[in-house]
Amino acid sequence: MKNDIIKKIQDLKLKNNAVILVHNYQLPEVQDIADFLGDSLDLAKKAQNTDAETIIFCGVDFMAESAKILNPDKNVIIPDITAQCPMANMVNIPNLLKLKKEHPDAEVVAYINTTAEAKTHSDICCTSANGVKVVKSLSSKKIIFIPDQNLGAYIQKQVPDKEMIIWPGICLTHHKIRKQDILKLKKEHPKAEVLVHPECKPEVIYIADYAFSTNGMINHVKESDAKKFIIGTEKEICYRLKKENPKKEFYPIKYAICPNMKKITLDKVLKSLETLEPKIKLSDEIMQNAKKPLQRMMDIGRID
Ligand code: 13P
Ligand code: SF4
Repeated sequence: MKNDIIKKIQDLKLKNNAVILVHNYQLPEVQDIADFLGDSLDLAKKAQNTDAETIIFCGVDFMAESAKILNPDKNVIIPDITAQCPMANMVNIPNLLKLKKEHPDAEVVAYINTTAEAKTHSDICCTSANGVKVVKSLSSKKIIFIPDQNLGAYIQKQVPDKEMIIWPGICLTHHKIRKQDILKLKKEHPKAEVLVHPECKPEVIYIADYAFSTNGMINHVKESDAKKFIIGTEKEICYRLKKENPKKEFYPIKYAICPNMKKITLDKVLKSLETLEPKIKLSDEIMQNAKKPLQRMMDIGRID
């Protein structure tokens, strides 16, 4: 049954000249059908470099929207339109405009986890793979950072010469990861390295060995001499980590689950290839204005 679905997906992909981009937090069976598996920055790059006419984006809304903004002529399809990142919706536009007015000398840095509309009011985007590099690249001394307070605090620590005004948004999946749960795993596996995502709380990042984007973790584990790793991010990344490093051991935070990422299933991917729906639709004006900060970030690249 599963094999039949996978065969149909492969056939339709060829017929429609489609490419399947998959985020590291997707369900294992969805990761297995990926043409490219990655973090939000790498997937945006893959979307920009592909010759395919159609992109099936297995991730959440802001990722698929970014792919569309960078490729307005391509069909970008998200197999479940309700797969939305709650943090991306935490920026209230009138309040952002008010803040900009209060700080006319500040540049606005938008984490890619924002709506397309919020991006149109921003100077540059960043992801967790390049946030420090992006903020360092700016000439202003004052930065308005939206919407993740934990990533904002992480960047501020590394770029102390900037004054960062940080939006009070959070990713619940990461924010609820508790320091005591990491410490408990550390006690059970004293030789394990602790890798966490910068969306975690500062007290969790403080006790970790490294804070990385999801692809930063993938790359680090490949190169590290350590054999065991405690992983402080959405737990499904451990499927890819184990597949690519079968001799290494991974200890996830079992409750770190992003329910929106889990909405994409093989059945929905098949349906989206059969119908070429639901498409990402944004107005030309939003796309043009959101492209500027996104492209400015793409030109900077990554650091991890
Ligand atoms: P990455 O860019 O590290 O893949 O993170 C995206 C995300 O949504 C983290 O919660
Ligand atoms: Fe958004 Fe958090 Fe899910 Fe990432 S893990 S997509 S930030 S809700």
